[in-house]
Amino acid sequence: MTGKSSTIAAPTSDAGRANTLVQLGPGAFHLRRFLSLDAQSALLETCRALMEGPVPAYVPVVRGGGRMHVRMLCLGRHWNGKTYSYEPTRSDFDGLPAPPLPEEFRSLSRDIARAAGMTLEPDVCIMNYYDAVGRMGLHQDKDEGERSLALGLPVVSVSVGDTARFLFGGTRRRDPVEPVLLESGDAFVFGGPARLRYHGVSRIVPGTAPAALGVTGRFNLTFRQSDNGTP
Ligand code: SIN
Ligand code: MN
Repeated sequence: MTGKSSTIAAPTSDAGRANTLVQLGPGAFHLRRFLSLDAQSALLETCRALMEGPVPAYVPVVRGGGRMHVRMLCLGRHWNGKTYSYEPTRSDFDGLPAPPLPEEFRSLSRDIARAAGMTLEPDVCIMNYYDAVGRMGLHQDKDEGERSLALGLPVVSVSVGDTARFLFGGTRRRDPVEPVLLESGDAFVFGGPARLRYHGVSRIVPGTAPAALGVTGRFNLTFRQSDNGTP
């Protein structure tokens, strides 16, 4: 962490390590150890079941033809990597409908947003699985509705499995980036003035997941309020 960050609360602890809320500028929060090991384990099982379920995760091919370096499954609404927009069915892949967003996911994301002093009524969850060579280039999350973006409604992220080197930049691509290690059970929230900050994952650190989870790789879930395009 750099000098720009400040730790502002230490609510509960798990496995002897304190949960902490670290602020990375206005509207941006790293909630370390938000999930207990039991909660991580339960989340992991749900992620696996969904990703191997009737509407399975897939590797998106984006506009321009590049393959992403993650396996993705969208819940609630589908993010189309060709049009960079949300839709009910996976028209860029297999035409299947996006599975519903489970109620326990909605409430988890509300709890995380609240812990960062924000509110969110998510209608979308993008689940990504990163293997040992998984990564994601620097980008902005700006495909949600105009109203959602204008209000700065947050993106809420939670991770289970191996640690990721997450890069958090500014609102311009050329702005300097701050590396943040997102560990299993950590959450990250960026809303308000931070909503359009560039971010990405430069690498996964293999073998860093808690042994008790029995997982290789990393699951990351981001919750958003797409607002379905309504004004
Ligand atoms: C994303 O930017 O959509 C994913 C970020 C992450 O995997 O932490
Ligand atoms: Mn993103």
